[in-house]
Amino acid sequence: MNKDKIRLMRPNVGKEELELIKEVIESGYLVEGKMVKEFEKTVADYLSVEYAIACTSATTGLELALRAVGIKDGDEVIIPDFTHPATALVIQTLSANPVLIDIDVFSYNNTARLIEEAITSKTKAIMPVSIFGNPLDLEPIMELGKKYKIPVIEDAACSLGAEHKGKKVGSLANISVFSFHPRKVFTTGDGGLIVTNDQNYAELMLSMKKFGSGLTPESKPGFIRWGTNYRMSDILGAVALGQVRKIDKIVNDRIEKAMIYNELLKDVEEVRIPEITEDSKSNYQTYAIYIKKGNRDSILDKMRENNIEVQIGTYALHTQPFFKNLKRVGNLENSLALFNNLLTLPLHSELSKDDQILVVNTLKELL
Ligand SMILES: Cc1ncc(COP(=O)(O)O)c(C=O)c1O
Repeated sequence: MNKDKIRLMRPNVGKEELELIKEVIESGYLVEGKMVKEFEKTVADYLSVEYAIACTSATTGLELALRAVGIKDGDEVIIPDFTHPATALVIQTLSANPVLIDIDVFSYNNTARLIEEAITSKTKAIMPVSIFGNPLDLEPIMELGKKYKIPVIEDAACSLGAEHKGKKVGSLANISVFSFHPRKVFTTGDGGLIVTNDQNYAELMLSMKKFGSGLTPESKPGFIRWGTNYRMSDILGAVALGQVRKIDKIVNDRIEKAMIYNELLKDVEEVRIPEITEDSKSNYQTYAIYIKKGNRDSILDKMRENNIEVQIGTYALHTQPFFKNLKRVGNLENSLALFNNLLTLPLHSELSKDDQILVVNTLKELL
């Protein structure tokens, strides 16, 4: 048995972030301030977007986005069945109804065709997911949004640093939202970021994030709408700033390691490796392979017994008790197949080539 645990993920945080945290603590101002501002400016430039708004998680960021586009009681929002529960939960938080649709079996993402089949007069937003760091093909989805006058909110929780046709994820949808949970390539422990080029949405989300603050009709600072507190503390802002300064390095390192897995696995007939199209750049937040023989669960257990941390891909929401009565369009067969057969392999900057060889050799033996 492999004696040192091979971890699924490790955060890329260290000296740079510690120095910045020290500055915050020495300043005596810990609530959202200088660091968060600097982070928002840096990440907006990096993504080529007008507005970047830090918040407490992707879940709270998606909630603000849905509120900004006016989602309310009884509205339908189209989402993939194959996603993290948060994608559906935020819609239910507003008493609106998630509509589950299938995904493409190769990209693991929604397509414009699948979305259009689910649009009704009740559809008030489309919320596709760029899953595992593999960017959505958003152009045709944005066309749909224009055709039916429905805003497109991208759940980009996994996908900071990914690109499609040379454009960064975050620069294409009406609003995109990223997560900084430690399973993501960029982390602040917990945290999130909303980006948009729409001034009206940006102002609404900024105001709601800070208790509904804004200018009263007499142009005085006051409280002018519903709001809450989804501010990011400046300590986390310091971590975020440290992270964004090295995002390209983090992403390129992951791509290199993903290519090593691709090479090691290319002749293993029992698995299918992630298929990223030539016009896409994935950040490989999740390197998930498809186990063709239907024995994913036993392989997952045995890899873990061998001290190799592995995971499923993500959930087919309709299989989960809380979501089983949600509206569905189509048979969701691809989502179910991926839920049952994907296996996520360890991938992080401290993983050596020898570790990757060990992971693949263990997998081959089990297959
Ligand atoms: C696709 C997707 N959406 C939303 C979330 C929620 O992110 P957070 O934990 O930052 O709220 C996740 C988290 O894993 C996710 O993978």
